[in-house]
Amino acid sequence: MKAVTIVGARPQFIKAAPISRVWRQHGEEILVHTGQHYDHNLSDIFFSELEIPQPDYHLHVGSKSHGEQTGEMLTKIERILLEEKPDLVIVYGDTNSTLAGGLAAAKLHVPVAHVEAGLRSFNRRMPEETNRVLTDHLSTWLFCPTETAVAHLLREGMSEGVHMVGDIMVEAVQYNIQLARRQSTILQQLALTPDQFLLATLHRAENTDHESRLRSIVSALNQIEYKVVLPLHPRTQARLAQWDLQITNPNVIMIAPIGYLDMLQLEAAAAKILTDSGGVQKEAFLLQTPCITMRDETEWVETVKWRANRLVGADERQIVEAAHERSVIHFDKIPPLYGAGRTADQIIHVLAKG
Ligand code: UD1
Ligand code: UDP
Repeated sequence: MKAVTIVGARPQFIKAAPISRVWRQHGEEILVHTGQHYDHNLSDIFFSELEIPQPDYHLHVGSKSHGEQTGEMLTKIERILLEEKPDLVIVYGDTNSTLAGGLAAAKLHVPVAHVEAGLRSFNRRMPEETNRVLTDHLSTWLFCPTETAVAHLLREGMSEGVHMVGDIMVEAVQYNIQLARRQSTILQQLALTPDQFLLATLHRAENTDHESRLRSIVSALNQIEYKVVLPLHPRTQARLAQWDLQITNPNVIMIAPIGYLDMLQLEAAAAKILTDSGGVQKEAFLLQTPCITMRDETEWVETVKWRANRLVGADERQIVEAAHERSVIHFDKIPPLYGAGRTADQIIHVLAKG
């Protein structure tokens, strides 16, 4: 069987790596990189660290408006699918690369496998929500990480092709955390003591593209009395400059985006994680680090239910309070919310049956 895998953004490289590894033992894979992310630390670093084969096609689409970016991907992916004639297309998550890959395939009647199907924030202002709803409805196989995701699909009338397989990020973390512990020197480089710093990430459009929300988050970061490591996404960097917002707190160590091994090492060693990322919320849970999520809602509702994650929105007071509060979470009493790390095998088993 021949699969075309579409990736383009940082979290997709991380999610695709474990599945590609298993798929390539059984079938052929043509890897397409849309070029949505292109900076070394948002793209190439993951290919080398995670030993992902070089893409067969690189579309170099780059940063553009939603329509232009998605449209250019759609045109270019269609050409590849016509040329390669795959048996299926595999897409990941909820980025513009996901939607373009799914749509190009569905229009050509190539079946689509959507990994991380069924997630919903119910916030249609998020570009990710549009991407994931549409991709789910285009897909033949819907691989859900949680029962909540399965229930969302059922409510939208989708039951055929729905498979609850756990979350692929469990494998990504399990596979790479040992490597991270052996190879990463980020704690020494930044002179950090485990449990005595917070790790923060911030990049979601719903925060960075609204001046009042970003101002409020920056103001909160400026009040935190612990060390905070902040690997800054270029989108956020650009908005801070545009609105002349400054992180003036000497406790905040701003660095460029980092590779996956350094990231896992920091996530595991941090006292808490402050984030608006989807992947980072799950990794915080998997690495047993309390999480504070700077969003009004989350797709990863289980982490909140089990109190491993607290939603604080962009509320300055709540962010500061959550960062300083003493939180004791009994992770050992929480069931494995995202599966046991057999997701790739389960997905390939289903796909191999055709
Ligand atoms: C995208 C996804 C988001 C995901 C995130 C993962 C969409 C709509 N959004 O958001 O769901 O959480 O990736 O990180 O698909 N930029 C660079 N260098 C790069 C890439 C981007 O400087 O290599 C800058 C550009 O100014 C660009 C901005 O970041 O305009 C946003 O990039 P884009 O890919 O459009 O969205 P992300 O915010 O990365
Ligand atoms: N990540 C990374 N380096 C960073 C920031 C994040 O390797 O500097 C990883 C993180 O560990 C997680 C993934 O990128 O696996 C999450 O991607 P991101 O937050 O960009 O997107 P989201 O998950 O919100 O779509």
